[in-house]
Amino acid sequence: MNVKIKPAKRLKGTVYLPGDKSISHRAAILSAIAEGTSRIENFSTSADCNSTLKCLESLGISIVRNGKTVLVKGVGKDGFIRSSRELDCGNSGTTARLLAGVLAGQSFESILIGDESLSKRPMKRIIEPLEMMGAKIESKENCLPLKIRGKRPLKAISYQMPVASAQVKSCILLAGLFADGKTTVSEAVIDGETVITRDHTERMLRYFGVDVEIFDGKISVSGNAKLGARNFTVPCDISSAAFFLVAASCLKDSEVFIPNVSINPTRTAILKVLMEIGAKIEIRQPAFCIAKDSEKDGAINDERAFSDENAGEPVADLVVYGVGQFQTDTLRIQGAQTASLIDEIPILAVLGTQLEGGLEVRDAKELRVKESDRISAIVENLRRMGVEVEEFSDGFCVKRSRLKATKIDSKADHRIAMAFAVAALLAEEGETEIDQAECVSVSFPDFFQTLFQMTNF
Ligand code: S3P
Repeated sequence: MNVKIKPAKRLKGTVYLPGDKSISHRAAILSAIAEGTSRIENFSTSADCNSTLKCLESLGISIVRNGKTVLVKGVGKDGFIRSSRELDCGNSGTTARLLAGVLAGQSFESILIGDESLSKRPMKRIIEPLEMMGAKIESKENCLPLKIRGKRPLKAISYQMPVASAQVKSCILLAGLFADGKTTVSEAVIDGETVITRDHTERMLRYFGVDVEIFDGKISVSGNAKLGARNFTVPCDISSAAFFLVAASCLKDSEVFIPNVSINPTRTAILKVLMEIGAKIEIRQPAFCIAKDSEKDGAINDERAFSDENAGEPVADLVVYGVGQFQTDTLRIQGAQTASLIDEIPILAVLGTQLEGGLEVRDAKELRVKESDRISAIVENLRRMGVEVEEFSDGFCVKRSRLKATKIDSKADHRIAMAFAVAALLAEEGETEIDQAECVSVSFPDFFQTLFQMTNF
């Protein structure tokens, strides 16, 4: 499907975002390992999180889904059953890497498969530590399909991560729940700086009753931990909010309200960067809890959202006002900061075209192994729009430029499609056409509807 987008003068309205994708994956997996039924509200509508639910069902977990409400009947640590078919992770790296951690601790064999993009993404980063723990893993040159022969119990390890990756950290911590002692993962160190990756697994494990030690970038769990079922609401996804934060900031006279967004400190670097360059964003205590599907039709729960209801995740309402162009020096993103903005780099690249001094991104090699090679996708599409941009092996440099409407090759990568939809709004005139635009359903199925509503008022 191709989508055509015209330039816009401003964005106005309220953005209802999907539940956070990272938190939803973890919610489903931990609920499955827990004993009893967990009720998850505002579960992500993304195709990625659906892949996680489908894989769990194949492993014998009973799941009832009604819109954004998901009931998961946990089977405890010993209740998974061997899947009669391959476990299809679709486009989702988080599904593959986190489930691999759980499957390593089972006394049966499982096969993880994925789509064309996922089948090219590196899995050595999880194969190595899981084999150290005693699992046997066959792969196609360290990529999917992965055949995982689990072991019970696994051997507890202390592992220093070579890459800054929350997926790798979470994979090992989940395997650690099935180990014979205390498993410790140390966050990666880049240029002498410890990079603290998103900590949703740690927060959610604690919420499910697991004793998680966290000290100085080292996280430990013990193999005798038991998880009890919980009810909670997933906050909305700040990485999806990022597209609207940038679009509204760049279009003068915009005013956009984004309720119930996750403001977990390991995810809010995007707010910090935008506010540092002069974006006008208000962070407010949430006015209302997210309406539960069971209380729809206008009824809104009036409890405050800063509570355990969110599985230990802080939440806020965001209001963003348009600024137009930004009079800044070159915005430089590098080192640990790049890791903390990894999913936001495509939209920051578009922002870079509106900054007086442009934007330089470094230390972003990981972007080459995301859903597409995002460095090359960003550079190619910015050039198509007439932007002066230089490519490096670990990043790129964008000059302030006028954007020309054109055809965009999304590479079937959701964040590339959404970032260039925003670029299309900022273009001077004419329609920009985005190919394979249906890929936005990987994280935000209603993205285009939401965007069009905010430009037509
Ligand atoms: C994710 C972690 C990040 C991120 C991905 C989701 C997660 O990947 O890019 O979209 O949910 O743990 P890495 O941890 O591999 O960098």
